[in-house]
Amino acid sequence: MDSGSVDEAMRRAIALAARGLGTASPNPVVGCVLLDPDGEVVGEGFHAYAGGPHAEIVALAQAGRRARGGTAVVTLEPCDHTGRTGPCSRALIVAGIARVVVAVPDPDPVAAGGAATLRAAGVRVEFGVRAAEAEAGNVTWLTSVRRGWPYVVWKFAATLDGRSAAVDGTSMWITSEEARADVHALRGTVDAVIAGVGTVLADDPRLTVRNLRDGTLAIRQPLRVVVDSLGRTPAGARVRDGAAGTWIATAAQVGAGPDGRVDLPELLAELHRRGVRAALLEGGPSLAGAFLSAGLVDRVVGYVAPRLLGAGPTALADAGVTTIADAIDLEITDVTQIGPDLRITALPRKREG
Ligand SMILES: NC(=O)c1ccc[n+]([C@@H]2O[C@H](COP(=O)([O-])OP(=O)(O)OC[C@H]3O[C@@H](n4cnc5c(N)ncnc54)[C@H](OP(=O)(O)O)[C@@H]3O)[C@@H](O)[C@H]2O)c1
Repeated sequence: MDSGSVDEAMRRAIALAARGLGTASPNPVVGCVLLDPDGEVVGEGFHAYAGGPHAEIVALAQAGRRARGGTAVVTLEPCDHTGRTGPCSRALIVAGIARVVVAVPDPDPVAAGGAATLRAAGVRVEFGVRAAEAEAGNVTWLTSVRRGWPYVVWKFAATLDGRSAAVDGTSMWITSEEARADVHALRGTVDAVIAGVGTVLADDPRLTVRNLRDGTLAIRQPLRVVVDSLGRTPAGARVRDGAAGTWIATAAQVGAGPDGRVDLPELLAELHRRGVRAALLEGGPSLAGAFLSAGLVDRVVGYVAPRLLGAGPTALADAGVTTIADAIDLEITDVTQIGPDLRITALPRKREG
């Protein structure tokens, strides 16, 4: 079999994996393509939801006996443990797979070891095909598992001059309906949405994923997290409406940082323990500043409206920067026009020392 068909199969497996984004969590997204000994595709699969069959199992069921002697092309090292489903390494061995080509090794100590089990059974295992691409497709899960706290995306909306509200406090709506619908799609890809109690008191947001036209709620809702040191969230706040899970994270529960407020690294560690792999930080400026100054933001998504306010609160408050040399530098990875607005995606550059 030529390496071109394996490479093409991995390209396809990565595309399949992406179909599980937003539903597979707290599991990774995984795609699998099975080739018979002649290099023909005989099975495909992806991991759609936690507790459901893994990508390899879906592909093996499709291929049946045609998998025997073939090659499994998988975006992530096959698991080696029995959780809600059995180990994929064993299923591949039983199906008579001769060779397994993997993009990225599994960093999760609970599930790792699939390659060793396969090799012990005489299966050839190779790593690294389209690894960077597969890694990028699974970046939230891989990052959160490697370091033990969720991948954090800070999202904000602002005018072109960086204002998040007018002087009189009015802020609805800075950006267009198209941009707001895009935010709901973004919420649909994460496990938790985080806001400070300041935003809850000012705007009383719902923080759910819903259709903006008719209000229909999406089936899968992220956990709503209010960072609220003293427990000031009103009993009647919309985040307590029961439409989705809610955690009012107080300093008494999480622990307090040096300023007496909720300890943010501890908050993220607790969210990770609760199965949160990706979190969307939705505001407001004080909490965003605290996250950024602590180096806890992995990606920034800014919706910028072609409007000017000239005065009023800014989208970001104190982030620990007092001189230009300490500015938090970003690398822009995407700029997309959404209706009349721009959506700018950027990654904070790693700081020295
Ligand atoms: N344009 C946008 O994208 C956007 C998004 C969201 C909000 N907003 C606007 O932002 C305004 C609210 O601003 P805000 O700064 O008060 O809201 P915020 O950042 O959501 O909430 C700030 C509060 O979070 C609590 N907090 C708990 N732990 C903290 C920690 N470790 N570090 C920092 N804060 C912590 C603090 O209250 P405790 O000390 O009592 O816990 C603090 O006062 C509203 O007008 C809203 O419209 C704009």
